[in-house]
Amino acid sequence: MPTFRIAVLASGRGSNLQALIDAQRAGALPIEIVLVAGDKAGARALRRAEDAGIPTVALDPKSYPTRVAFDVDLFGRIAASAPDLLVLAGFMRILDPAALAPWQGRAINIHPSLLPKYPGLHTHRRAIEAGDAVHGATVHFVTAELDGGPGIAQASIDVRHGETPEALAKRVLEREHRLLVASVSLIASGRITLRDGAVHFDDAPLASPLRLGRDDRLAG
Ligand code: GRF
Repeated sequence: MPTFRIAVLASGRGSNLQALIDAQRAGALPIEIVLVAGDKAGARALRRAEDAGIPTVALDPKSYPTRVAFDVDLFGRIAASAPDLLVLAGFMRILDPAALAPWQGRAINIHPSLLPKYPGLHTHRRAIEAGDAVHGATVHFVTAELDGGPGIAQASIDVRHGETPEALAKRVLEREHRLLVASVSLIASGRITLRDGAVHFDDAPLASPLRLGRDDRLAG
């Protein structure tokens, strides 16, 4: 079977990208990362990709006449690399719905909250301010709605008493890496699909996202 091809969009640090690279290298994830694309030339994510020998492209939004022109170029380059799956891992731009439309069911995002709670920014601070006892991260299929697509899988952790947003973010991020690798693994093996707008796991519709266990495996 041909290797499952992945393109990654990232704007920043790239630790989730690194988790995919590391899992692939360790033989734990049968994928090939065919492209890492970003909107910030200096992003650490792009350096990580270069270090791993992965083709990169950095497009500067300021050099396009419109937001849509940027998205058209970006998605043209993604399509040219022919990925089976597009992974948004810390990509900090809102994408044009028309550019995204052909990727329905083939694009996922990782978000640092238990969606539908806290779409958008500052999720850790918002969870602490709300007094939440449990917080976490979600991998979901991408739709035109920001952080709003159907949920695939979640990782939860208990919020510690008096914990700062930074400390909580660090602990969530560790779980994110495992959540993303486990989610990509299930998609690459064909066990997770999007059909008629609903996430299916082993051909049955999922009533709620899979949960990441202590053993780093996903289960219903
Ligand atoms: C992660 O918290 C991810 O959930 C969010 O952006 C952050 C990216 O971190 N979408 P990194 O660039 O992967 O280190």
